[in-house]
Amino acid sequence: MENPFYITGIIPEPYFCDRDEETKWMVRTLKNKAHILLTSPRRMGKTQLIRHVFEQPAIKNKYHTFYVDIYPTTSLYELVLFLSKEIYSVLVPKGKVVLDKFLACLHSLSGSFGYDPFSHTPKFDIKLGDIHSPELTLEEIFGYLEQADKPCVFAIDEFQQIAMYPEKNVEATLRSHIQKLNNCLFIYAGSNRHILENMFNSAAKPFYNSAEQIYLGSIPKDIYMEFAHKQFAKAERKITPEATSFAYDQFEGHTYYVHNVLHNVFAYTNKNKKIDKDDVNNALDLIVEEKGRTFATIMNQLNYQQKETLVAIAKERKASGVTSVAFVKRHSLKSPSSVQHAINILLEKQLLTYENEGRTKVYSVSDGFLEKWICKTW
Ligand SMILES: Nc1ncnc2c1ncn2[C@@H]1O[C@H](COP(=O)(O)OP(=O)(O)OP(=O)(O)O)[C@@H](O)[C@H]1O
Ligand SMILES: [Mg+2]
Repeated sequence: MENPFYITGIIPEPYFCDRDEETKWMVRTLKNKAHILLTSPRRMGKTQLIRHVFEQPAIKNKYHTFYVDIYPTTSLYELVLFLSKEIYSVLVPKGKVVLDKFLACLHSLSGSFGYDPFSHTPKFDIKLGDIHSPELTLEEIFGYLEQADKPCVFAIDEFQQIAMYPEKNVEATLRSHIQKLNNCLFIYAGSNRHILENMFNSAAKPFYNSAEQIYLGSIPKDIYMEFAHKQFAKAERKITPEATSFAYDQFEGHTYYVHNVLHNVFAYTNKNKKIDKDDVNNALDLIVEEKGRTFATIMNQLNYQQKETLVAIAKERKASGVTSVAFVKRHSLKSPSSVQHAINILLEKQLLTYENEGRTKVYSVSDGFLEKWICKTW
């Protein structure tokens, strides 16, 4: 029996949990020809949701769907490379006529990809050095999307990355291309909510007001628990409601972490035993222990102030008023200003995240397992 709790790769439909409302909303929004901005904390399930939306018949049968994660890109050159590579790989299986239309649009890259002259099979062999004028190639890519034989949906994951490119006016350039398209809708996704919301909600920014917004939170507890119990039952295994409830509560339902714990519970608990809360706790301990080395390396790269601040926030789980004298005293920290400085670095390293609650910032450790490890170790 395969493990029904997928923690990597594409999740087959029977093992995909919930997101019914979000899926319906996204399909409806695309059908109404609006672009979408999808944000959530890291590892909540954005990428899986996009893939799930692409599998819906209303989308799958009508559109070409493209998905690209631009997290590794740091320049417009790389963006152009990633976009063209994705379009190419989606179109290859659709046959020569469809692919040729794309090749015909990309004059600036002709020679670097197309068909192998000997075997006549399609090949994509573009290197960064082959892209001489990314603006021009970008224009050609959008030109293709406009003329494609079907309407397109293009998901660009970790979209906040474009704000970091060294080239000037990338946002304005992209936006002006996208504004002209009638044949292609975009899903912009990412976990850096603050950068993304600033891109889409500030009147002075090119992407202002150009997408319908959805924020993805945890799957509701009752729905997640029902899903989990069904998965165990299908495998003729038993688990107590206290056990699944405990797993969920450890991470406030944060999808990846809860799922990962149940994956391990499923994999390593004796098949004939009725799984209880202790088994879940053991699985959690094992995961945290296994990751301990990596976590220790991360901690060793921090200076003393940063370490102390991270530990203090981990211990509070959700920390507000972090620069108050009370917080500094409670955790024997140096001073409010040293805490503020440390927090800036920890945010930059993505070890911390924050939510705005009214006018206060509530900080927490980004990685749920790291938080548990810190609480155990310090
Ligand atoms: N609907 C779901 N059903 C089952 N498992 C899910 C679901 N959504 C997320 N997961 C679990 O959470 C993991 C992370 O999901 P995903 O990669 O979609 O998150 P993400 O928000 O894109 O994360 P990141 O910010 O790191 O890109 C998945 O690998 C899977 O284990
Ligand atoms: Mg993702």
